[in-house]
Amino acid sequence: MIPYGCQSIDEDDIAAVADVLRGDFLTGGPAVDRFEAALAAAVDTPHAVACANGTAALHLAMMALGIGPGATVVVPSLTFLASANAARYVGAEVRFADVDPETGLLTPDTLEVALQRGGAASVHAVVVVHLNGRCADLDGISKVTQRYGLKLVEDACHAVGGAGQVAGRRAMVGSCPASDLACFSFHPVKTIAMGEGGAVTTRSQEIADRVRRMRNHGMTRDPETFLDREEGFAPDGSPNPWYYEMHEPGFNYRATDIHCALGESQLRKLPVFLARRRALAARYNRLLAGLAPAVVPVPRLAEDDGWHLYAVLIDFAGLGHSRADVMRGLRERGIGTQVHYFPVHRQPYYRRRYGALDLPGADAYYRCQLSLPLHMRMAEEDVDRVVAALADVLGLAGEVPSSRAGAA
Ligand SMILES: Cc1ncc(COP(=O)(O)O)c(C=O)c1O
Repeated sequence: MIPYGCQSIDEDDIAAVADVLRGDFLTGGPAVDRFEAALAAAVDTPHAVACANGTAALHLAMMALGIGPGATVVVPSLTFLASANAARYVGAEVRFADVDPETGLLTPDTLEVALQRGGAASVHAVVVVHLNGRCADLDGISKVTQRYGLKLVEDACHAVGGAGQVAGRRAMVGSCPASDLACFSFHPVKTIAMGEGGAVTTRSQEIADRVRRMRNHGMTRDPETFLDREEGFAPDGSPNPWYYEMHEPGFNYRATDIHCALGESQLRKLPVFLARRRALAARYNRLLAGLAPAVVPVPRLAEDDGWHLYAVLIDFAGLGHSRADVMRGLRERGIGTQVHYFPVHRQPYYRRRYGALDLPGADAYYRCQLSLPLHMRMAEEDVDRVVAALADVLGLAGEVPSSRAGAA
């Protein structure tokens, strides 16, 4: 069986985790600091704060930006639940934006339409999702958020190692030249696996400090911040060694040393992982050209893409096949696929809360989307096998170039 995504764990990853297990700290130790430093370097940002998972990162982002009841957060509908739920965790409302029907991405235009729908006055922040690993148009989107004075959160859970263009310069996803912060997930289907893991990256010391505090119950041990001077300090003015304060409640969203050791070991291989994924994607592109226009790869950035998912758009209706039958047919041939995503505005919870919305770009993308396998355990021949099986299931066999012709 070729799953649509899975982790790639080598002996060096296992050794890194075993070292932590033999050491003094399972959590709160040096592996967390090392992972944070490595991630900050990898995405070219001064601050990276590790946390329990990508959902926690998004929740921490909302708290760090002071989003709460009375605020509205614009979120593209074509994303994973957590991108929207994070706003609800802090009591804010979600305003769903449409996406480009071919890329699935939020655009400056779809953002503008969402801001006009219902007015921009109550909107405090925008979440931009780098779907599939492709960096959205940060330049254009940040111009809109700046014009309206809005915070900008990057949901970069798909996009570690990707890059975009900001002000005419290449910028790593997570380096945040045009946003307040970026949130990453290191779930096993992502390019870097921690088991469960996530991180917030930012250029702002203040945001980083707040994220650190909120991932650890809202605790501060910094004497300079103590409000209760009598409890916090000894008569000689030295801070009491046991003392900490909480000025607002946070959560236990810490990442353990076990997870961070794995994350650091995986990060070392990020360039290799990306190169391999890019090569597999290029092979898909070549082989799938024979199935156009019935099957069209979602347009990507090639060199600068994070290549988390290899997504195609299939004209299921035109071909007379249901997506469920195609997925079942592929599964029978040993190939796992997935759909990313059912538009979040159509989830019963959000439909109940905000009513039925007309977001035709999200609906059109969803109707045709299928994620084909893309991960490190795949050989080039697996790509050939997937494309041949897809052609077979869709009744397009004979349209695919031979793997010899497709290979390069
Ligand atoms: C776009 C997006 N945002 C957020 C998340 C949440 O990340 P996690 O599963 O690590 O909580 C995911 C995870 O799949 C995701 O794909």
